[in-house]
Amino acid sequence: MIRPRKRVVALISGRGSNLAALIEAAKEPAFPAEIVGVISNLADAPGLEAARQQGLATRAVTKADHQGREALDAATDAAIAEMGGELVVMAGYMRLIGKDFADRWAGRMINIHPSILPLFKGLDTHQRAIDAGMRVHGCSVHFVTAEMDGGPVIAQAVVPVMPGDEADTLARRVLRAEHRLYPHALRLVAEGRARMEAGRTVFADIADGDRDLLVAPALEKLTEASDLESLARFTP
Ligand code: GRF
Repeated sequence: MIRPRKRVVALISGRGSNLAALIEAAKEPAFPAEIVGVISNLADAPGLEAARQQGLATRAVTKADHQGREALDAATDAAIAEMGGELVVMAGYMRLIGKDFADRWAGRMINIHPSILPLFKGLDTHQRAIDAGMRVHGCSVHFVTAEMDGGPVIAQAVVPVMPGDEADTLARRVLRAEHRLYPHALRLVAEGRARMEAGRTVFADIADGDRDLLVAPALEKLTEASDLESLARFTP
């Protein structure tokens, strides 16, 4: 039986590189989801223009037009419905949503966050990971709840923190992992193999070969030649 692809609406605020990775993944005919529309809370988000150029439906639903969190949430919800969204992916959507909106999409809205949750919720995750002396850092895809970056985790990717890393070098390494992780996690949710139940992620039909869907990409695949060279420089 061929299942129809899930219709996905993306919420963004910025450059939209994760959105681009999802759009690319969805070009594979067997991918179980398609991006049907993109909504930004900032009218000048570069990702919105990029999505438009790809022929996707786009909307800016902004604070200037809808005052107060609830009004902005309701307008965003209405825009998702107009686009026929069945699932919502947040991809660098830099605003907090209220409980009603989160509850309405519970189990059907996911987010990517640049840390190994529950560590480093919120902003400046890369600098905070460096300051904490972490040797590993990474990203997490999780179901969205009313608690910021607090919903149950679906999949995570881990990258090394290299000696000499600064926030931007570490951010670039994490971003490469994000672009691989997010399509995997969306696949799991769209196929109904990862579901949110009673505040936890419940998995179904996961086989040994599916490891990369849950922990992706594996650490060794991410340690690039440039990382190894920089490690060599710092080894006495
Ligand atoms: C990513 O690091 C994502 O994890 C965070 O915001 C950033 C968005 O980047 N939530 P992009 O707009 O997808 O390039």
